[in-house]
Amino acid sequence: MRDVAVLGVGLNKKWGELWEMSLRDIFVEAALNAFDDAAVDHIDSMYVGCMTGGMFASQEHLGSLMADYLGVKSIPVTRVESACASGGVAFRQGFIEVAAGVSDLVLVGGVEKMTDVSGDEATHALASAADMEYEGYQGITFPGLYALMARAHMHQFGTTREQLARVAVKNHKHGAMNPVAQFSFEVTLSDVLGSVLVADPLRLLDCSPITDGAAAAILCPLDMARKISKKPVVKVLASAQASDTIALHSRKDLTWLASTAKAAAGAYKMAGKGPHDLHVAELHDCFTIAEIMVLEALALVERGKGGQAAESGMTALGGKIPVNTSGGLKAKGHPVGATGVGQIVEIALQLRGEAGPRQVKGARVGLTQNMGGTGGSSVVHIFEAV
Ligand code: COA
Repeated sequence: MRDVAVLGVGLNKKWGELWEMSLRDIFVEAALNAFDDAAVDHIDSMYVGCMTGGMFASQEHLGSLMADYLGVKSIPVTRVESACASGGVAFRQGFIEVAAGVSDLVLVGGVEKMTDVSGDEATHALASAADMEYEGYQGITFPGLYALMARAHMHQFGTTREQLARVAVKNHKHGAMNPVAQFSFEVTLSDVLGSVLVADPLRLLDCSPITDGAAAAILCPLDMARKISKKPVVKVLASAQASDTIALHSRKDLTWLASTAKAAAGAYKMAGKGPHDLHVAELHDCFTIAEIMVLEALALVERGKGGQAAESGMTALGGKIPVNTSGGLKAKGHPVGATGVGQIVEIALQLRGEAGPRQVKGARVGLTQNMGGTGGSSVVHIFEAV
């Protein structure tokens, strides 16, 4: 297996409600930015992560469409879907292809255009990441599913409503330093606690938003990156993926993200690193309770102690392990199929020392965790500046 590096990364200019741009425009803007950053003029293969182009933008066959509009139409292109983990899983496919020696330059992109449908239609499309027969068609929404997990965590570990809110306050603070973020403004504890109730105990400011956005990364063998890159080289130390029951009712414990824990264990083993070696992490905070549970599944905190992390400042910039310096899904936005690649863009910038005001000083090792639905799929990557 060859060592693999991230040669270049790119996002479209601003995540949010992009009325003036179509699905393909958003993707192509991010991909061209990755080409510029990588300083290459061709790729051998491409993966496109997208959860549901069909339901959000009435467009499928995204691999060929994006290759055509990017001007790379003769190469192999594969669309990857794993709900909100589509981007992270697509990145893993690109990693495997380069590591296997099948291709040298692979572009992995993620894209979603979610705001062209009504709120009800978006809620329905997102519910398809759950078990539609047993969950979605019975009326539960994604905020509803995570609300069940939050209530169970509060009951089992004493996690408080304020601790959930602290995650949103932290991530909005980070997002305020990120010009790409959909919500680049700060919020206070009382803003979160006073925001409208969505699914008890989760309020508006506990939720990630509906977002249009795209992200891209170009991968190549490590040796090639060392030769051609003029920037610090970001090596992919590990890639691991796992799955769990898609429906919450099939789980023994609503407070444990088994797929994330399994993917993390695999990634730590492959990287030869542990949680204590990480300097920065981008985690899947689709709802505030998700960040708390992911911290526990990654063994960054003890089981049941995730609620205390944001409260203590441990996960803020300047803390022991800054989490979601980009603003996370909460403030940067959550264009579902793009999110996993967007997380990798942030970690690559951090490890290259290019994260501007939100730079984690001396960051050399970073982790991304991206999950589909309520954790039916999870993918974890670890990177190091070499
Ligand atoms: N955080 C902060 N502000 C938000 C927000 C969020 N998540 N979502 C919407 N807003 C703001 C809007 O900017 C708007 O502000 P304005 O009045 O100043 O313009 C206002 O709230 C109303 O926006 P609207 O789009 O009408 O909200 P909505 O009620 O239709 O949707 C949610 C709010 C929370 C239901 C929606 O964002 C949602 O479904 N989020 C979860 C997405 C999800 O499940 N993703 C998959 C996770 S696995």
